[in-house]
Formats: sequence, C-alpha cells, structure tokens
Amino acid sequence: MPFLVTARRSAADSVDVPLLVLAFRKHPTLAPELVALDAKLGGALGQTLGRREFRGGRDEVLHLSGAAAGANPQRVLLVGLGEPSDVPGALRRAASIAARQARKLGANALAWHDGGRGADTVEAVTVGLLMGAWEYADLKTPPPADERRPELESAVILSDDAAAASAVERGTAIGDGMALARRLAMMPGNLCTPSYLADTAREIAARHGMQVTILGRAEMEKEKMGSFLCVAQGTPQDPKLIALEYMHGPAGTKPIALVGKGLCFDSGGISIKPAQGMEAMKFDMCGAAGVLGAMESIARLALPVNVVGIVGSTTNMPSGTAVNPGDVVRSHLGKTIEVINTDAEGRLVLADVLSYARRFSPSAVVDAATLTGACVIALGHTASGVFGTDDRLVSDVLAAGTRAGEPGWRLPLYDEYKELIKSDVADVKNTGGRPAGACTAAMFLKEFAEDFAWVHLDIAGTAYSESDLTYIPKGPTGVPVGTFVELVRGRAR
Ligand code: BES
Ligand code: MN
Ligand code: ZN
Repeated sequence: MPFLVTARRSAADSVDVPLLVLAFRKHPTLAPELVALDAKLGGALGQTLGRREFRGGRDEVLHLSGAAAGANPQRVLLVGLGEPSDVPGALRRAASIAARQARKLGANALAWHDGGRGADTVEAVTVGLLMGAWEYADLKTPPPADERRPELESAVILSDDAAAASAVERGTAIGDGMALARRLAMMPGNLCTPSYLADTAREIAARHGMQVTILGRAEMEKEKMGSFLCVAQGTPQDPKLIALEYMHGPAGTKPIALVGKGLCFDSGGISIKPAQGMEAMKFDMCGAAGVLGAMESIARLALPVNVVGIVGSTTNMPSGTAVNPGDVVRSHLGKTIEVINTDAEGRLVLADVLSYARRFSPSAVVDAATLTGACVIALGHTASGVFGTDDRLVSDVLAAGTRAGEPGWRLPLYDEYKELIKSDVADVKNTGGRPAGACTAAMFLKEFAEDFAWVHLDIAGTAYSESDLTYIPKGPTGVPVGTFVELVRGRAR
C-alpha cells in the first residue's frame, strides 16, 4: 500500500485521524493554538509539559493517550526538535521519527501539526515522513491477515499556508526519488543487476521523456573503455553504462552531469575481500542509485535545467577471466593503468565514465561513489568525503548537502598524492597504499576528470548504515539524492 502525504487546513483539536504528532523545541510550552486540544485530552498535554516529563530534546518522543473513547486523536505523539539551527532539517528528522513510531504503533494514519512554521518546512516534513515510513518488504512473506498490523497509509500535514499543497508535492517528488534509491540499494545483487539498473533507467526515461543511452560490453569495447571493461571481464553479466538526459534548461546551456558508481556486487575480484560482512557490498551501487533517484526527483520537480545522469554498472568477481593484479589496461581517455589491487575497482569504472561524460560538454560533473573504506575511517558515517578541482563547485556541493541534511566534509587533493599512484610500468596505478586512501582514490579519479569542473563524493560511510540511526532504519539512507537535487535546484534559481 503506498504511503500518501497531503496538506489540509485544520486545527489540532479537530483532526479525524488516530495519531496526532506535535513537534516541540527544547523547553516546550502550551501554545494558545493547543489549548483546545489540551482540553479535549483532559489536560494531559498541559500537565505533561508542566511537569517537564517531555523536554523537547532532539529525537525525544513521548506518547499520550488521546481523546475520550471513540473520538480522535486516539493518541498524541510528542517529538522533540532540540535547539536547531537548521529548522527544516530538524523537522525532517522529527517527521521521520514520527512516521517510524506511527508504524510501530500500528496507526494507519497520522496528522502532523505544523504550528504555523510555513511552507518551506512543509516540504521538509513531507520528505521526513516519507523516509520514516519507508521500508523494503518486497521479499518477505506477509504474516497471516489476522496477525497483520494496520499499515501506515497516509499522513496529513495541518497547515494554514496556502503554499502547503505545492510544498507537499515537492517533498513527495524528493522523497520518491530517495525511496527509489533506497529500494535499488536494498535489493540484493541477484535481483538488482546492471541490467535491472538499465531497465529502471529506461523506465524513468520513458515516464519523463528523457533520452536514454545504454552501452553494453560490445558497445564499450567499441568505445575502447579498457578500464571499465577490465572490472567487468570476470563476470558473465553484461556491464551497463547508462546515460539519462533531462534537457529542460535554456537551449545551449551546458548540462551538469551526475555520475554514479554502480557495482551491483563487489567481491573484490582476484584481490578478494574477507567473507565477514561481504554481503554489504551489494550496496556498492549506491552512487548509481543516487543518480537514478535524483533524476526521478529532478524530473518530478520539473526543474528548468539541463542535467545528464550517468551510471557505470557491473559486478566485480574473481574468475579465470578476471583481471589480475599487475595487469595493465588502456583507459577510454588513453592513459594506461596498472591494476595493483582488483578491489580498487570503482575508480577503474569511474575513470572511463568520467571520460565518457566529456561528450555531453558538461559545465560541471559531480560523481558519487562508495569508493573507499578509508573514507569511512576518516569521517565515519556522519559526512561524505568531498573532493574537487573547482572551489566554487565544491562549496556549492557542500551547501547543497547541508540543505539536504546530507553533510559533506572537504578533503584535500594535494599534489603529493600523485606520487603515491605513480606506476613503474604504466601512466598511473590504481592504488596508493593505506595512507590517505580516500585522497589517493580521488587523486586517481582526477586524472580522468579533464575538461570540466569536477567534484567527487565518497559516500562509502554515508550511503548505508549497518545500525539503526533513530531517524533512519538500518540499511540505505538515500544519500546522495538530496545533495544532487539541492545542487541542481540551486542552479535552477
Ligand atoms: N566498495 C569498496 C569500498 C567500500 C568499503 C565501500 C567499505 C563501503 C564500505 C571499494 O571498491 C574498495 O574495495 N576499496 C578498497 C580500496 C583499496 C583496495 C585500495 C578499500 O577501501 O579497501
Ligand atoms: Mn572494491
Ligand atoms: Zn567497490
């Protein structure tokens, strides 16, 4: 059952849904607009706030039993915002928590009391609600009907703002792109294959009238993509290079290109990974999922921009035909690469995709890749690593990430790192050893990012989470969809 968010003018005390959500900053008080609701609840809200049982701290939740029997709301959920500097961000987070709680409670509908915060926050609340209600249940047998909890089917945002309905629409466009990215990421590698990503791209293109180009192994051979193809030579699956063109900007303006790493499974290849945790390498296509999700959102938002989304997808497998350490390949750009470690495959794929991007004459290219474990060591799961050759583009991407609640942190591209990837036999080698592993990976990519302003996002730590994050369940986060959408939206203004 799809989850639907709408907006409506209504007072908190006259809602007709079982669960009413109220979001409070730290040190909450009973606002005049909640007095009638408090009366309906027999004074429970005012007493709870008065006794400081609920203090409005970030992520704090408290349930109150609701109105008299038979009347709504049957329950009230208080959610804390803390003392936010970023109010839309705090509301997005609180809304996500609220939707998750509603699902746990088995409420089929909730109402979010907006409290006159305005239409901009309605968009953020919508995204939060959609993200909190999201789940991936496609592969689980549902419990028998009599044991099933009601599903959360709808949320209504109570807002007096005339612009609330269009804000909900925008939030839904963004949330649906994020949900698409999460679903693709969560799908196991035997289902979400390079061909499946290509089919998904075709479907997005058909729905939104985008041009789509898909190269398989044969086409990539013609293009002389020796770097991408060496990763794909160990798998019988057809690798896919996917390009989606959304051209709704002024004619003749150069597009912005969004590029994603799409390793549907990364075993490491001949430099095979340890078994422990290897299943998480189905998430090695989160950059690609982010590109497809962002293209969906951008089209739904009808942004007046030119954007090209490009995905490089394959799997990295050991086999008798796989690339071996020590092998040298020639990239699409012409530079030769010595493959030291076959597990540093993402950069090999992206090298050729970045080079391919030149044919769209992009003004800027932003790639996203679950590229290095070293980035997870450097920044944890809190921020993506941000690298770039163009300070203006770097700061635009950082600002976009901040607006989207997807923080990034800039890391350097010092010339010294170039020394670490010098090869004895080829122009460059694909690993630089353990020191500054995220930086040498980015430095490798820089070798192939010619002719355009470029930013690289290392999302290895941020694209999925191996533990529950209160407001995001264990699994894919949707990063970098929000960053991509905000970046492109920033250009549309
Ligand atoms: N996909 C991995 C990076 C990764 C690690 C993503 C952990 C998410 C979580 C990438 O292809 C990889 O294997 N990188 C190697 C590079 C090394 C061989 C230079 C790594 O980080 O260990
Ligand atoms: Mn790898
Ligand atoms: Zn990988």
